[in-house]
Amino acid sequence: MAPVTLGRLRIAAVNGGQRKVVVSVRPRALHSRRSPTGLGRPSLAPLALLLVAVAGCAIPVAAGNPAPTATPTLLAAPSATAPVLSTAPMPPPATPGPDSARVATPEPTGTPTPTPVSRPKRTPAPRVPVATPHPVATPTPVPTAPPPVLGGPLPVCRAGAVPVLSDVITPHHGYADWALTMLDTRYALPASYVPPDLEPVSPTGLAGSGQLRALVMPDLKEMVQAAKAAGTPLQVFSAYRSYAYQASVFDGWVARDGWTAALDASARPGHSEHQLGTAMDVGSLGGPAPWNVRDWATTKAGAWMAANAWHYGWVMSYPAGSMALTCYEYEPWHYRYVGRAAAAALHASGETLRQWLWPQQ
Ligand code: DAL
Ligand code: ZN
Repeated sequence: MAPVTLGRLRIAAVNGGQRKVVVSVRPRALHSRRSPTGLGRPSLAPLALLLVAVAGCAIPVAAGNPAPTATPTLLAAPSATAPVLSTAPMPPPATPGPDSARVATPEPTGTPTPTPVSRPKRTPAPRVPVATPHPVATPTPVPTAPPPVLGGPLPVCRAGAVPVLSDVITPHHGYADWALTMLDTRYALPASYVPPDLEPVSPTGLAGSGQLRALVMPDLKEMVQAAKAAGTPLQVFSAYRSYAYQASVFDGWVARDGWTAALDASARPGHSEHQLGTAMDVGSLGGPAPWNVRDWATTKAGAWMAANAWHYGWVMSYPAGSMALTCYEYEPWHYRYVGRAAAAALHASGETLRQWLWPQQ
């Protein structure tokens, strides 16, 4: 079989027609989308020429992308073995790509106007649907990862280069548990989780559109007013996102960058803090989307948020240089409300939100 290039993946051989493949992974073309220092952007160089030896662990390949289920299902092995990859083409994504998806896909239950939730420019993102669905190599679930052990050490996000994933319903998944709900690549909310008290953010004076839970509004309003008084007015770019909308967002990432790369940047449905209704992507009023700024935390508004948001109960979930702890790349625009007391304690601890939440699960 001739080599086939699928995005960043190059399939070099197929073993005996059994869908066993040998794959090399090219580093992404542009990794400095956020910070000239590369903070939060661990190099994928170790992945270059990653060979997938799947003899002995070949798994029947289902057509299309493995759909996460609410059942606790372990999807990847915490071993040096790379995910088994299928050459089965992806079905056309629900949306053509992360950027255009956010324009074209209506948000069924959340923000009135779909807002971008994409990443800074790496390479020019596809803005229009492609005629032919972009083929994406799809890892096949390898059900060998142990479940997280409550009371144990913080679960790893990756074993070497291999994402360790599951769809375990997070322990604190009640609507009243919003401050303690841990979401990462393993723990998820049920698809049916829709906060009962979503409200538009606009009455707080925050520009942009979207909905968040009523409980965040008083502190959000104070933060918005304080930022404005400091000369750094804010705008929301994405607020509450339903399970279904998050699925379309993640599918857009998969279509553009492939499944493995998508995992670094986007939460799979059920795993996003946006589904809590207590998280938002915020940027500078009238400015470009914060992910289209090299490092939004170095802008006036981004720096103000980084220094002051915790006073109002908001914390940056995915700080720079913390991907091994947070499971996701640096997102200086993504803030989650945990309440003033918790945010102050978290700020004093110097920990990431995931580290801080874990012992409380
Ligand atoms: N970008 C963050 C991880 C999300 O999708 O919720
Ligand atoms: Zn976000």
